[in-house]
Amino acid sequence: MSGFTEIKGVLNADNVPLTEIAAAYGTPTYVYSAHVMKTQYEALAGAMKCALPADKQPILCYACKANSNVAVLSYLRSLGASLEIVSEGELHRGLAAGFKASQIVSTGVGKQRREIIACLKAGIHQFNVESLPELEHINNVAGDIGIKATVVFRLNPNVAGGGNTKISTGRKRDKFGINEQTVYKAFDRAAQMDNLDAVGLSVHIGSQVSTVESFKTAFEKMPSIVHNLRDQGHTVSRLDIGGGFPIIYKDEKLLDLDHYAQWVRDIILPLDTQIIMEPGRYLVGNAGVLLTEVLHVKETEETDFLIIDSAMNDLIRPTLYDAYHGIEAVQNRDAAEHSYDVVGPICESGDTFTKGRILTQMKEGDLAVIKSAGAYGFCMASNYNTRPLPAEILVHEGKAHLICPRQDVHEIIARDIIPDLG
Ligand SMILES: Cc1ncc(COP(=O)(O)O)c(C=O)c1O
Repeated sequence: MSGFTEIKGVLNADNVPLTEIAAAYGTPTYVYSAHVMKTQYEALAGAMKCALPADKQPILCYACKANSNVAVLSYLRSLGASLEIVSEGELHRGLAAGFKASQIVSTGVGKQRREIIACLKAGIHQFNVESLPELEHINNVAGDIGIKATVVFRLNPNVAGGGNTKISTGRKRDKFGINEQTVYKAFDRAAQMDNLDAVGLSVHIGSQVSTVESFKTAFEKMPSIVHNLRDQGHTVSRLDIGGGFPIIYKDEKLLDLDHYAQWVRDIILPLDTQIIMEPGRYLVGNAGVLLTEVLHVKETEETDFLIIDSAMNDLIRPTLYDAYHGIEAVQNRDAAEHSYDVVGPICESGDTFTKGRILTQMKEGDLAVIKSAGAYGFCMASNYNTRPLPAEILVHEGKAHLICPRQDVHEIIARDIIPDLG
């Protein structure tokens, strides 16, 4: 039994008891199941294999903003993934994980000169460009170093999609992408430029897309634009159709991958381009938990607080998005139920994982997990309150591997410099 399962009364990750991981590596610690990542990757790749011909399979560029540990990247690469990045740092992580630069797609609304140079020198597959000024910037930088850039333009389809307003990126008031008229202008402008080739379009409407029909609505905007561009003499040989596939945190409706693959087959495939996808959360979200220890149970007139050693600096999603995460005890899993506010030690009331949640009764020293924390968890962690970043463990076929040690507080403090103020 792999994934996160109970064995002899104790929660395991891919057959390793989480009690053993806590004893060996301490808490808070992110624990990832390689088995769950593989299952997710194969489900997505498998749905596309069934729907599309062998020579038109999409390039699955894992959006590593979701979880950029080099071991995770390396594992997903071994399964067949390519990579989507949003920074120079992610470029270097990708290269360190063994991706070829030609497997890497660079996205984001603003790219610094040094990031563009690093990507061009490495030889990435393409830049996804999101404005006319960005187009000029990339052309200038490419000219300065004498390396041609390949670009696609991100269409803003004016379709709402993301699971909450902060991760919805396809509405016309969002900062992302360009509208149809600007796409035409961008292709015309690119045709006059010496240092880049414009070869296609991209679209990404948000993350944890809950109204799954929104994918179809966004795709349906593409064919007429592609035909118009071709009629105007432009090349459209690549379509990057983004990521955003939802996972289950609580009781969300999942995207039927076969439906999604049929939309790709019916709407995108006839356009006869290379197809690129950018899944992030879907591949890693349910593959991770944040393993934590109960510091205290604080009983008050209003509520009982379960004060744990993880905090908003370790996992910010509940504070930032009011996001729901399942919480479970690691041991004593058949204890009586009790209602708790689960909170961290940070000096903000917002440092709250949940309020009034019914859990099995826990006491000081017990272990618990915050579930579905594999995406946008560790990679959004900070040193707030000078708390060291948690450790990360990847469990693969019954063996726990340390893939990032707990940060040492002295490393954090050593970065500061006391100037000589005379
Ligand atoms: C351009 C782009 N592609 C892909 C993703 C990955 O989204 P998700 O993790 O929901 O699949 C994001 C995330 O916001 C993104 O901005």
